[in-house]
Amino acid sequence: MLHNTNLILAIESSCDDTAAAVLQDRKVLSNCIANQDLIHKAYGGIVPELASRAHQSKIIPVVTQALTEANIDKKELTAIAYTQGPGLLGSLLVGSAFAKSLALSLDLPLIPIHHMQAHLLVHFIEEKNQKSPQFPFLGVTVSGGHTQLLWVKEHFDMELLGTTLDDAIGEAFDKCGKRMGLSYPAGPEIDRLAQKGNPHRFEFPIPNVNGYDLSYSGVKTAFTNFIHKQEQKEPDFIKVHLNNLCASLQYTLVQIILIKIEKAALNYNLKQIVIGGGVAANSELRKQLYLKAKKKDWEVFHPPLSYTTDNAAMIGIAAYHKLQDKQSGNLSNSAQARLKM
Ligand code: KG4
Ligand code: ZN
Repeated sequence: MLHNTNLILAIESSCDDTAAAVLQDRKVLSNCIANQDLIHKAYGGIVPELASRAHQSKIIPVVTQALTEANIDKKELTAIAYTQGPGLLGSLLVGSAFAKSLALSLDLPLIPIHHMQAHLLVHFIEEKNQKSPQFPFLGVTVSGGHTQLLWVKEHFDMELLGTTLDDAIGEAFDKCGKRMGLSYPAGPEIDRLAQKGNPHRFEFPIPNVNGYDLSYSGVKTAFTNFIHKQEQKEPDFIKVHLNNLCASLQYTLVQIILIKIEKAALNYNLKQIVIGGGVAANSELRKQLYLKAKKKDWEVFHPPLSYTTDNAAMIGIAAYHKLQDKQSGNLSNSAQARLKM
C-alpha cells in the first residue's frame, strides 16, 4: 500500500500496562493501552506475577486493536519494535517473546528499545503544533521506577548525569499516597487534591545530595513519621488536612528535582529541558518549570498527556530513529530488567 515508508508495530510491556501502537514513520496511527490498575489496586502496588499473567491475556487483543485502529493488515508492517528493558523481567518477557515470534513469522526486522530513552524520544513524534527539541538538551525522566537527568547529545547518545540513590519520584508519590489511604497509583490523585491545598502549610526536608544525584526516601520517611506523630494528637489528621498534605508533599517532591535541573542546565549550558515519564503529567512540576523557564530563558518540552505515562507510541518513535540509523536487533537479544542507557 505505502511505498518507502516505515509501518512499525510497537509493543510496550515493561511494567503494568500492555500497550501496542502503529506508526507510519514519525506519525502515530494508533496508540492502544490495556490498563492493569484494577488488578493491582487491591495490593496498593504492582504485583509482578499478576502483571505478567495480565500481559499474557491482553497482548493479543491490544495488538489486534492497534492494527484495526490504524487500518493496517499485519502483512503491511515493515518492522516490529518492543521494549527490551528496563522493567519487570516477567512483563518484559511477554512483550519480547511476542514481538520475536511475530517478526520471525512475518520475516521483519526486530527492534529492541530502551524504555527510558523512549520516554524522551516521544518528543520526536510528528504532531500538530508540536515542536521537537534540538540536540543537545537536558533530558529529565520522571516515573514510578526512575528519576534521571541526562545530557542528550543524539537520539541514542545519552549520558547519565544523575539519578535517584533510592526511591524514584513517582514511587515517593505512590508510597506517601498509600500512607494517606489513597489507591495506587496515587500520583494523579495527589495532584488533583493538591489543587485545593496550601503547598506551604507543612514543611518537609529537601535532602542535600552531591552532584546531580537525588534522594526521595528521606522525604518519604519524614512524611510518614510526621503523620504518625500528628495522628497521636488528632486521629483524623489525614482526613482533616488531606488537601494541604498533598499540596505540601507535592511541592517538596517537585522542588527536589527542580534544584538539580537548574544546576545541570547551568553547568552544562543547556537551555532546552525535555521531560518524559509518568510524573511529567504533574501540574506542579509543569507550573514550576514554566516559571523557571521565564526567568532562565529555557525552552521546556512537555509530552502531550497521551504520551506521558507508559505507552507504545514512544517505543515506535524510538524504533523509527533506530531504522534511520540502520540499527536493528536479532532473536538473541534478551529482555533485561536492568538495561543500561
Ligand atoms: O512512566 P510511568 O507510566 O510508568 C513507569 O515507567 O513507572 O509512570 C507511572 C508513575 C506512577 O508513579 C504515577 O503515580 C505517576 O507516574 N504519575 C503522577 C501523575 N500521573 C502519573 N505523579 C504525579 N502527578 C501526576 N499527575
Ligand atoms: Zn515508563
